[in-house]
Amino acid sequence: MSPEADAVLAELLPFPEDGSRADGPVAVDATDRLLLDEATPLIAQDPDGVVVIGDRFGALSLGALALGARDVRVHQDAITAEAALSANSARVSEVLWEGRARAAATSPVPPEQAPLGLTSHDKFEPRLLTGARLVLLQLPTSLAELTEIVEHVARYADPAVTLLAGGRVKHMTHAMNDVLGASFAQVSASLARQKSRLLIAREPRSDVEPLTYPVTARLTDREILAAIGSPEGAPAPDAGLTVVAHGAAFAGATLDLGTRFLLAQADRWPEPADVDGRPVAVDLGCGTGILAAVLALRCPRAHVIATDRSAAACASTTATLAANGVRATVVRGDAGDLLPVPDGSADLVLLNPPFHDRAALSTDAAHRMFAAAGKVLRDGGELWTVFNTGLHYRGALQRAVGPTEHMAQNPRFTVTRSLRKALTDESVADR
Ligand SMILES: C[S@@+](CC[C@H](N)C(=O)[O-])C[C@H]1O[C@@H](n2cnc3c(N)ncnc32)[C@H](O)[C@@H]1O
Repeated sequence: MSPEADAVLAELLPFPEDGSRADGPVAVDATDRLLLDEATPLIAQDPDGVVVIGDRFGALSLGALALGARDVRVHQDAITAEAALSANSARVSEVLWEGRARAAATSPVPPEQAPLGLTSHDKFEPRLLTGARLVLLQLPTSLAELTEIVEHVARYADPAVTLLAGGRVKHMTHAMNDVLGASFAQVSASLARQKSRLLIAREPRSDVEPLTYPVTARLTDREILAAIGSPEGAPAPDAGLTVVAHGAAFAGATLDLGTRFLLAQADRWPEPADVDGRPVAVDLGCGTGILAAVLALRCPRAHVIATDRSAAACASTTATLAANGVRATVVRGDAGDLLPVPDGSADLVLLNPPFHDRAALSTDAAHRMFAAAGKVLRDGGELWTVFNTGLHYRGALQRAVGPTEHMAQNPRFTVTRSLRKALTDESVADR
């Protein structure tokens, strides 16, 4: 890698953290460095047509720019990753501009014809990849997500494209080679370095099948039929819910067991009350939007809001809602930070929080979601949460929202109801 790229990487932070937590994430990992080292001669030879997918904090995108890439197109599924890239771009823009100015002084191309730039795309769309000759990918953990990415690269990138896909050796499987092999005629693996390895794919196959994702399924689970409800009690013969899932969406086009357990309590959820205008119900961390669609079908008058940090989840939810003929507002945001309603206005929030962040166990997002629910619920509004029983979230829910009861429990899952209550000195003392 060039000294310029090293200087840029040295400035990056694992936003929103500052990198000081011993067990926290690092801004630049061994996979980023291996990918950039392999990319260095390819970018030097052809600085246009570079695409980065799955960049965690910006190391690949900003590293590619520092290596001389002229315009880098980027896709990051999580809006939090986009925020990290944007914060790190601001940190290193001066270093990058200085480097570009130095290069321009010795190059026949004037700087205005060699724009320095990143273009962010939140969808897998042809224009993300059209003409791409180098794609740098941090391998996702899910094969479904990898399949959607690889099929798009093979279909829309330049036929001369090189796909460099890197990951930690412990998270890589032979099935990943097979996914690449289904779309590319040539797949090889690099030697491992500092426990990371690359898969290198070339020669997109021309005899490609239709895109696998999004996938669609009709769910007729008893819990879904009961939660959707029918005025006569007995479900209509065609009753069910259609779910649409992009590759990176949680649980694919199936019903997660935790979500199933939460749906089994639907007869005890409050009917969103029309206190002041339209009732508001929120599916926080919506995944494929099953809960949002159920809410919209149960209560057609309600303003249903579905939110998730993942672009694939939001796209899946939008498609799931459309497939079921219902409407809701879908918002891509971090832990409910961009809800389009005022604080203290929601009647009901449903939450099946994440406990993984990529491959790592993490309950940080769950706690931030509890806080978001506490903020958006009106006095007397309810948060219904399902979580793995071992996580013991009751105290945290009580602090973030209000009095919290266990409503159902099985060996794996607990469902709680937290009642939003304005805090008084007495209620604080009770906790
Ligand atoms: C356990 S899944 C539940 C999905 C869906 N509600 C269901 O029941 O099938 C958790 C969801 O939270 C989303 N998520 C994770 N971290 C998040 C964050 N910081 N902000 C918003 N959503 C997040 C994930 O993308 C995932 O879709």
